[in-house]
Amino acid sequence: MFKITNKKKLAPNIFEMQIEVSLIAKKAQPGQFIILKVDEFGERIPLTIAGTEKDNITIVFQAVGVSTIRLSQKAKGEFLMDIAGPLGRPTEIERFGKVACIGGGVGIAELLPVAKGLKKTGNIVISIIGSRTKELIIYEEELKSISDELYITTDNGSYGRKGFVTDVLKEFLELVKDNKGLDRVYAVGPVKMMERVCKLTAPKKIKTIVSLNSILVDGTGMCGSCRVEVGGQTKFVCVDGPEFDGSLVNFKELEARQLLFKEQEECALRAKGIKI
Ligand code: FAD
Ligand code: FES
Ligand code: MG
Repeated sequence: MFKITNKKKLAPNIFEMQIEVSLIAKKAQPGQFIILKVDEFGERIPLTIAGTEKDNITIVFQAVGVSTIRLSQKAKGEFLMDIAGPLGRPTEIERFGKVACIGGGVGIAELLPVAKGLKKTGNIVISIIGSRTKELIIYEEELKSISDELYITTDNGSYGRKGFVTDVLKEFLELVKDNKGLDRVYAVGPVKMMERVCKLTAPKKIKTIVSLNSILVDGTGMCGSCRVEVGGQTKFVCVDGPEFDGSLVNFKELEARQLLFKEQEECALRAKGIKI
């Protein structure tokens, strides 16, 4: 059993939780994730390790379905049943030069440890974060403190610039001809956002790493649930990823596979009497 040592609501339906799990906290690197089970009736869900401090890891999650809603109902001082990790390959962090770190929605929290790592290694970090509305922008101060430049977008213009993270990226890419371009792009967020980022960077041949969120079950490369096509080959997000070269990812297949259990997920919500 693992103790919840802190819990905070960051935005509507988005929660930050610290959990005491010292072995994972000691080993975790940016880009890695855990699989947790809330209690004996729970399913296994993957969540990125958004940070570590002493014996604690931080997770940030959006309550979107039965498991994340049940997790959000847990309070500080309560316990979670199982946590496995750190899982997945860590982010490749080197001195690349100028890196755009792009996060959408709850992906902003997943971006933070990567952006921190890139800054610490001597990169110029341009963070571009976006959400639907102002209330859903998280970790603004944290990212500002480690970014050379921070740009914020909201779909409805309620904060920052009206539009999408890709609008800001497009402007940066237009500077490439002046030799002020980007050396690498890192993107994490909704599949459509990552796909659009890659469409912009591919013609400029800027290496773009995306963190994929396919449906994970065992997390050990055995069940095949998380498979994605990357460069014409089958890869498993849990053990080969979660990060891949975005120019090679079959986003259409990924998007379709994310919806595989939609009916069952809605049925589970109805059974619990939950409306989202
Ligand atoms: P459900 O109603 O069961 O599902 C809602 C949607 O979530 C589904 O349609 C599907 O697209 C997705 N989903 C459902 N089950 C899974 C599963 N077992 N694995 C992956 N996706 C699933 N979310 C966060 O809020 N914060 C994070 O830091 C985060 N990190 C992730 C890291 C990785 C490597 C992956 C693969 C996913 C991550 N996710 C993260 C997504 C998170 O796992 C899902 O939102 C969660 O499992 C939904 O469970 P649910 O029962 O609440 O919702
Ligand atoms: Fe089963 Fe990746 S979750 S193979
Ligand atoms: Mg579920």
